[in-house]
Amino acid sequence: MTSQPDSDQLVFFVNGRKVVEQKPDPEVTLLFYLRRVLRLTGTKFACGEGGCGACTVMVSRYNAWSKEIRHYPATACLVPLCSLHGAAVTTVEGVGSIRTRVHPVQERIAKCHGTQCGFCSPGMVMSLYTLLRNHPDPTPDQVTEALGGNLCRCTGYRPIVESGKTFCVEPTACPAKGSGRCCLEQEEEERGSTHAQEEMCTKLYNADEFQPLDPSQEPIFPPELIRMAEDPSRRRLTFLGERTTWLAPATLPDLLQLRASFPHAPLVMGNTTVGPNIKFKGEFHPVLISPARLPELCLVNSEDNGVTIGAGHSLAQLSDTLQSVVSEQPPEKTETCRALLKHLRTLAGPQIRSMATLGGHVATRATISDLNPILAAGKASIRLVSKEGERQIPLDSAFLEGAPEASLRPGEMVLSVFIPYTNQVSPSPMSVRFEAGTSIIRELHMFYGGVGPTVVSTPRTCEQLVGRQWDDQTLSEACRGVLAEVHLPPDATGGQVQFRRTLLLSLLFKFYLSVRRALSRLDPQKFPDIPEQFTSALEDFPIVTPQGVQMFQCVDPHQPLRDPVGHPVMHQSALKHATGEAVFVDDMPPVDQELSLAVVTSTRAHAKVISIDTAEALALPGVVAVITAEDVPGENNHQGEIFYAQSEVICVGQIVCTVAADTHAHARAAAEKVKIEYEDMEPRIITIEQALEHNSFLSPERKIEQGNVEQAFKHVDQIIEGEVHVEGQEHFYMETQTILAIPGDEDKEMALHLGTQFPTHVQEFVAAALNVPRSRIACHMRRAGGAFGGKMTKPALLGAVAAVAANKTGRPIRFVLERGDDMLITAGRHPLLGRYKIGFMKSGLIKAADLEFYINGGCTPDESQLVLEFIVLKSENAYHIPNFRCRGRACKTNLPSNTAFRGFGFPQATVVVEAYMASVAAHCGLLPEEVREINMYKRTSQTAYKQTFNPKPLRQCWKQCLERSSFHARKQAAEDFNRQSYWKKRGLAAVPMKFTIGVPIAYYHQAAALVHIYLDGSVLLTHGGCELGQGLHTKMVQVASRELGIPTSYIHLSETSTVTVPNAVFTAGSMGTDVNGKAVQNACQTLMTRLQPVIRRNPQGTWEEWIKEAFEESISLSATGYFRGYQTNMDWDREQGDAFPYYVYGAACTEVEIDCLSGAQKLLRTDIFMDAAFSVNPAVDIGQIEGAFVQGMGLYTTEELKYSPQGMLHSRGTNEYKIPTVTEIPEEFHVTLVHSRNPIAIYSSKGLGEAAMFLGASVLFAIADAVATARRERGLGETVTLGSPASPEWIRMSCEDQFTDMIPSDDPSTFTPWSIPVS
Ligand SMILES: Cc1cc2nc3c(=O)[nH]c(=O)nc-3n(C[C@H](O)[C@H](O)[C@H](O)COP(=O)(O)OP(=O)(O)OC[C@H]3O[C@@H](n4cnc5c(N)ncnc54)[C@H](O)[C@@H]3O)c2cc1C
Ligand code: FES
Ligand code: FES
Repeated sequence: MTSQPDSDQLVFFVNGRKVVEQKPDPEVTLLFYLRRVLRLTGTKFACGEGGCGACTVMVSRYNAWSKEIRHYPATACLVPLCSLHGAAVTTVEGVGSIRTRVHPVQERIAKCHGTQCGFCSPGMVMSLYTLLRNHPDPTPDQVTEALGGNLCRCTGYRPIVESGKTFCVEPTACPAKGSGRCCLEQEEEERGSTHAQEEMCTKLYNADEFQPLDPSQEPIFPPELIRMAEDPSRRRLTFLGERTTWLAPATLPDLLQLRASFPHAPLVMGNTTVGPNIKFKGEFHPVLISPARLPELCLVNSEDNGVTIGAGHSLAQLSDTLQSVVSEQPPEKTETCRALLKHLRTLAGPQIRSMATLGGHVATRATISDLNPILAAGKASIRLVSKEGERQIPLDSAFLEGAPEASLRPGEMVLSVFIPYTNQVSPSPMSVRFEAGTSIIRELHMFYGGVGPTVVSTPRTCEQLVGRQWDDQTLSEACRGVLAEVHLPPDATGGQVQFRRTLLLSLLFKFYLSVRRALSRLDPQKFPDIPEQFTSALEDFPIVTPQGVQMFQCVDPHQPLRDPVGHPVMHQSALKHATGEAVFVDDMPPVDQELSLAVVTSTRAHAKVISIDTAEALALPGVVAVITAEDVPGENNHQGEIFYAQSEVICVGQIVCTVAADTHAHARAAAEKVKIEYEDMEPRIITIEQALEHNSFLSPERKIEQGNVEQAFKHVDQIIEGEVHVEGQEHFYMETQTILAIPGDEDKEMALHLGTQFPTHVQEFVAAALNVPRSRIACHMRRAGGAFGGKMTKPALLGAVAAVAANKTGRPIRFVLERGDDMLITAGRHPLLGRYKIGFMKSGLIKAADLEFYINGGCTPDESQLVLEFIVLKSENAYHIPNFRCRGRACKTNLPSNTAFRGFGFPQATVVVEAYMASVAAHCGLLPEEVREINMYKRTSQTAYKQTFNPKPLRQCWKQCLERSSFHARKQAAEDFNRQSYWKKRGLAAVPMKFTIGVPIAYYHQAAALVHIYLDGSVLLTHGGCELGQGLHTKMVQVASRELGIPTSYIHLSETSTVTVPNAVFTAGSMGTDVNGKAVQNACQTLMTRLQPVIRRNPQGTWEEWIKEAFEESISLSATGYFRGYQTNMDWDREQGDAFPYYVYGAACTEVEIDCLSGAQKLLRTDIFMDAAFSVNPAVDIGQIEGAFVQGMGLYTTEELKYSPQGMLHSRGTNEYKIPTVTEIPEEFHVTLVHSRNPIAIYSSKGLGEAAMFLGASVLFAIADAVATARRERGLGETVTLGSPASPEWIRMSCEDQFTDMIPSDDPSTFTPWSIPVS
């Protein structure tokens, strides 16, 4: 290195423009460079670990040897800047722009309503765009696959897939969709014939408007890069950074020389392991070697006995190569290739598959590897090369388990992997070879990932079984052998120990069956096939492109054409979302003198802070200040919420101090150097059970009661008691909490820009922290990249933390929480424990219910008491139980403080209700749906807290749901299926819903608006509601358009601010449109009243003429609008009140299929019927319903928060916390808006933002139905304790069988588990 002291230039192209970086820093990612250096902020940061796709860009490279250009999607957060020499990068800005031309991909995603908050949209656009660059006529399956690496938390994916399918030549969605001729629609119509009087529409967008896709218009690959790639005088590149050197050799000998000189330097190929390790595991490498440019690593050589594939192949390229091998070679030779192909399809998303390389994958030997075990079972080998020469080693168990003698030697690297053609039966990470013509085992290999730190094998067991017949007895012995040989300790990292042990046997059994089937195919006489009922064990769930019909009421044909109310108007910012031009807080340009803030959080759940040593942190470059509680000029504890921990910490993740530095990297590095000394304190309360033991509560009990519960229990046929645990949920809004705090020059003013649902709350907290009047604090909120309740109270706390830092340093503060910190600090949905005692008659009629609810509130009050009150009030759901008592308490624990989350307690509590409905049904020999119907409210009634309501829409939704989903016929069909399938079971469930809107506190419903009309006739509309992606602003523009009688294009809506609308209440509780709509209407009507004299005098005049005239007559063209709110109340002493303004009703029916062996589940179909009254915007409302349903589905199935017994959240990223992806939504997904009346809300509409969250529970109960079927068939008790989430672990362990019976259980007193449930 001393011979090359100067850094080379890095040359690459971004959106057709040449970028020359004189001093590229090897530690910088493409994402950072795009956003901070080039100021291309369309590419978003959401996880930083390649797991969400928000930062997707297209990378194009020219291969000088094949003369081909390759376009592939990549997650910019994992692409090292230095790796881009000679590449062309296309970002969302390069695809199209509102300023120039919007690309068809962007247009369609916007017009198909594929954007809500818009934070994921640029990534979605880039994934689809890259697909179209490679396949201008994609198939629907390619569209779904292309989106597989992109997460969206808002839409539920259906409209995004639909926008992609508009490019397909043969879309799976019926081309006649929306015309009324579509087969699905006709089916719907037939099913809905009883409601034929209601004219329903299905067309949410007009495909005729779409621009055609013209691939010839796409930018060409820069010729200069072709010349660079073909330059024969290419030489080694050296990029010198602040701390790290990047070396990119131009020849193999040069690479081997570097490898020998820097034996500890990683080879950076796809960077999908090196990158995350540097970022999240604190690895540091002074030298990085990038061999990616070498042709030797990219060769493919097909020989008679196998295929050699260069280590530099990306996994996507590997897939293409294997595909051609499979198409060229006879099937008996390509068992391994086909097994690899199958796994490659589900390995991560297309971005990671395009970046990660075969060599990197093999060399990493990760325990989660899907491919290495298959390669090992297929007897692959690795060609290694070093300065000393080449050698071939087997990719076998010794290699995978990291045995030193079987591993790479210093200076060596993987050149290629040889995959032999094999006739072994190796459809999985296991393979077997038999004595010719027999089923006597000659050779057997079994590999397991995910059990220990490496992939493990079972050589002893395999050896013992050699010479044995392939039969049931051998299987039993193999199971026992595997359990003895593979040791998974009870406290293993990752938890789920019993489940993982069971999976060892489940996989073995699947392999056993597949081999028996293969033998039988060879010689059916000699080897009988497996029982027909067992074949289902062999099939994986296919990835199916979702489709469905969305139905809503048609607009009255007499409504004026220009009136947009009731039409599926596109989201006001949709095109800006899709082009990346929508500005989120972190997209705002740097402010002069700006500093970045990083947090230091508590590592103890309950401890005394003995000392905070900041000396080392303060000495680091760029660090300006460390901010602690002592720097808070005002209140550090406002309403029980603590900004900076002082003498004591009360949860892991509590902010103890922050570091302000010139860059985020410097702030983070310094934060890691702050040393805090703690002394643990007792008690440490983590779970609800522990809180109950310690009598630890945040607030007093709440109760409602009607009838005489004790008496009623004496007169029932049966009484059941039970307990249901519902775990929490992370909001996982795509935009993490972000704040820009700018201190003013005068009068202690401070401006904050942030994504929040409640700017007034931020203003209050910041004013309290700074000890200034609220009038000095201005909060600006343009949009949030998703919120779901998570941006209700937390931005106030974080805003105060940032404001204190800005106040101390006197400089603007940019405070962007990284995903892991966000998940750790801000907490989420309350875990809940529900206990019930139910008295009922044999008919299924419930006479008495006694319920107790406890929620895990965490360490501070936040919204826990209100959530608890909602739970108590909503706990009857749709059912009338004459003798009903419900009590609840919010528990105080040492977890981060849980907060508001879509549905506000209802989605948790109602699981308990539906669980006892199902349990009563099981005891009465009825279907749960029958018991639900028997107990459902039937006529105008009073709730348990004495509020009168009319459940007619509830009955309507329920009836339509059962009829139009063909519930009973499909239930029958599922039973037929289940009889023929032992290992896969189908289940169906329909759940009704009575959901409340608003809150029991009247003043929380008030709203205000401000409308200015300018002299050109354009209108600036402001109101107190926040745009979170839910389409609030779009609906407000629709309201203003109708009231003012002008086109929507005249109306502009810029931001929500405490400056324009003071004291606005939160945007939550599904009330945004209701209350702000009334305020906007009021302001517009005031203006129209003022304009009336002018209009009357000149009725034929134009809007512009009226405005001009009004001005000349000195008529004020600015008006405030106000809505006093709904008059709700709740008297907790009397246990009664008119608690809510109105109710929203709905019902959903879901069918699932479960794999009893693996615990996997697949959603086959969901039908939702939602009482929307009159929908102001059906596209927005259906979007809310679909998005909430999918979020609910995540809550009830895949999303698992893992806490250590010490209160540390393990699951802090996309890797550990799984929100639903595009492949997990229902294959058929139908939504119908049911028409009713709601005169008290704007235009007789209803608020639909939250309600459908609970309908996701139809998935949970469908799974429970399938599990119950499996248990019945196995002769087990039908009922099993229902819990949420019904994760694969729960499904597998509930479907007990001979394999679960074999698993030894551990004595809980002998170990501390890795994670514990906290509900
Ligand atoms: C979001 C995400 C999802 C993922 N999902 C999955 C999944 O579902 N299943 C799964 O199996 N894996 C998964 N992975 C892991 C992924 O497959 C590996 O990270 C990847 O294969 C590593 O390849 P790479 O080229 O990126 O290696 P790099 O990160 O570039 O390098 C990794 C290591 O390998 C060494 N190395 C690289 N090339 C060579 C070589 N030719 N010779 C010797 N050493 C070499 C390097 O020195 C380095 O130590 C996921 C990763 C991410 C980021
Ligand atoms: S931010 Fe890059 S994948 Fe999530
Ligand atoms: S629109 Fe996809 S995350 Fe919000």
